[in-house]
Formats: sequence, structure tokens, C-alpha cells
Amino acid sequence: MSALAPLEPRTLRICLLPGDGIGPEITAEAVKVLAALGERSHVTFTFDEALLGGAAIDATGSALPVETLDAAEKADAVLLAAIGGPKWDTTEPDKPRPEQGLLGIRKALGLYANLRPVRIFAPLLDASSLKPEYLTGVDMLIVRELTGGLYFGARARERDVPDAAGEGRPGMRAYDTMDYREYEIERIARVAFDAALTRRKRVHSVDKANVLETSRLWREVVHRVAADYPDVELIDQLVDNSAMQLIREPAQFDVMVTENMFGDILSDEASMLTGSLGMLASASLGDGTALYEPSHGSAPDIAGRGIANPLAMLLSVELMLRHSFGLDGAADKLGAAIERVLLDGYRTRDIAGDGSIVVGTVEMGDLVIERL
Ligand code: IPM
Ligand code: MG
Repeated sequence: MSALAPLEPRTLRICLLPGDGIGPEITAEAVKVLAALGERSHVTFTFDEALLGGAAIDATGSALPVETLDAAEKADAVLLAAIGGPKWDTTEPDKPRPEQGLLGIRKALGLYANLRPVRIFAPLLDASSLKPEYLTGVDMLIVRELTGGLYFGARARERDVPDAAGEGRPGMRAYDTMDYREYEIERIARVAFDAALTRRKRVHSVDKANVLETSRLWREVVHRVAADYPDVELIDQLVDNSAMQLIREPAQFDVMVTENMFGDILSDEASMLTGSLGMLASASLGDGTALYEPSHGSAPDIAGRGIANPLAMLLSVELMLRHSFGLDGAADKLGAAIERVLLDGYRTRDIAGDGSIVVGTVEMGDLVIERL
């Protein structure tokens, strides 16, 4: 958080990581919108672009070049678009993969808390795959642990190991480990409870405690933390049930806190409540520089065609203005402008419905700026 007084003129340095696919297109819209917001305030945004993911592999052989990490650490905030694509897909363990860039930068910056707000825009009710009556009152925050669990536990692929039954059938074996330490659970639980205090004061802690040891530790620690938040209601929910409840009655959720992989899966599911993965923003926070990114991927199938939805990226900018810069006024303005554009009937193709005016990526950015 910035300690600067809100009215002091200041320069804020943003490290841009456009990445792959539609990444550069939606990044351009974010830059345009930030420049426009800067003109309307006492803040100047400066941009420093760096390589991540497939683009970085092509240029340097590594998905996370040291220069990129350097630029990210020096910035006041990092804005990442999307990484990956079929060009770099491989199952060969020794080949670099774009996702290593994303996971590497999350880990290196210590971004253990990933916040994914799921909010329904009234004009988009028809774009959801659920009937509108199920969406009334939906306003949830997914708090996903981001630097532990299966994503970072011990893993290996081994050759010629006899199978568990000892029958000597040789073959490949692979494993990933779900591994959590108490402090990792405790700090993410605090993020969730603190967030709940500013919202509807309810936390669903999602685990698989009927099967997994990590989940039983998770539950214990979350309950211990909950004791410090007597005003917040805590509900334990098993992850398979959560997947069902998200569709059955999504309005029951306020804050949902969960481990890395469960959070990855449930946040994609929850995004469809909003009508499109193209509407889901995220903030990844730790103790230093924070990173903001849409929750969607690089959509290589539509890259370069000018039709990608830039709104999750712009909503990520809104989160950045709020969480990293304390510019709540500018954040509110941006959020309202996005809502206004939707109310006026404009849609990119992914959220278009009957009677909407279909626009491209650049036009969508322009429409938002007009309404700032
Ligand atoms: C996300 C993405 C990433 C993840 C992938 C691209 C590695 O799905 O941010 O949700 O699994 O964390
Ligand atoms: Mg995901």
C-alpha cells in the first residue's frame, strides 16, 4: 500500500507483461485507459514493458528472463495480460513452457494471495449460462492460495519403476505433491477474513478434509484464525460440494478461501456466472509488488483479430488502482464507466446477446474512455 497522501502529484511505474495471444491487444487498451485516467488526475503512469511466457521463450529461451523479474520488482505494480498458446505446448519435461513464467513470477514476487471478485453486471444477466433468477445477489470474492499446493510441491517423472503391486511391470511413473505448511494456510486465511470484514462477513473455507491430510491441516488452521474474527461466519465446505453449490445457489457465497488448485478450478467455474471468463479480473498480492491479471487465458484462436474482450483486463486495472495505489476515486470511475458501456448495449463477441451492439477490442477501450 502506498503511504503517499492522495492529492500529492505522483508518478507510478507499471511493469507491463503483455505475454502471448490476445495479451498485447488487451494490454494496449489498459495503457490507453490508464493514460486517460492520468490526464484526469494528479497521477502520471509510466510503463515499462517486459517479456513473459511464450514471447520470452522465443526471444531468450526462458519463460521468465531475469530482466523481467528485475523490471517487475522495480515497479509499483505489475500488469500481466495472458501467456501460452499451442506453439509452445509440450509434454516434454525438459522443454520450456510459458506457464513456468507465470508460476515463476508469482513465486518470485511472493504473491500468495490471489483475489478473484465475481460480480454480476446487471446488463450481462443474459450472457450467463444460469437463469437470471439464480444470479440475483451474486457478489463473491474467491481468495485463492497461489504459491503452494500441487503447483509447487515435489514432482517427478521416473522411468522403469515397478508398479505398486510389485508385479514388476515397468513403465513411466509421475507424481505431484500437495504440500502445505501452517504459515501458508494462516496468512491466506487472514486475507480472507480481513476481506470478509469489509463485505458480508461470511467465509466459506473449501477443502477436501474427508480425504486429504493437507485439507485437515487447512481446516484446523482456518478455524484457529477464525477465532480472531468473531464477527465473521465460517462455513467449511467440501470442494465437490462447492462446485455444485456454485451452480445451485451462487448467492450464498461472500468470500470463498481455498488452496491453489481448487481455487484455479472453482474460479473458472464461477466466472461463467458473470457470463464470460472475459469478465473476471484478479489481483495477486504478497508483501511486495503486486500483480494484476485477467483470469482468462491468451485465447490464441482469436489473437490478432481485434475481437478480444478487454474488460477483464480493465477490471484488473481497477483492482490495481485500488489495492496498489489507493486511488479509489479513479477505480470507482473506471468501474462505473465499464458498467455504463455495458448498459449502453455494447458488447464484445464473447458476451454479445440479442440486441447488443457488437464491438471490437479497440472500440471497447474507446467507449470506456468516453465514459470516464
Ligand atoms: C490461472 C491460470 C494459470 C493457473 C495457468 C495458466 C498456469 O489457469 O491463472 O488461473 O493455473 O494458475
Ligand atoms: Mg485458471
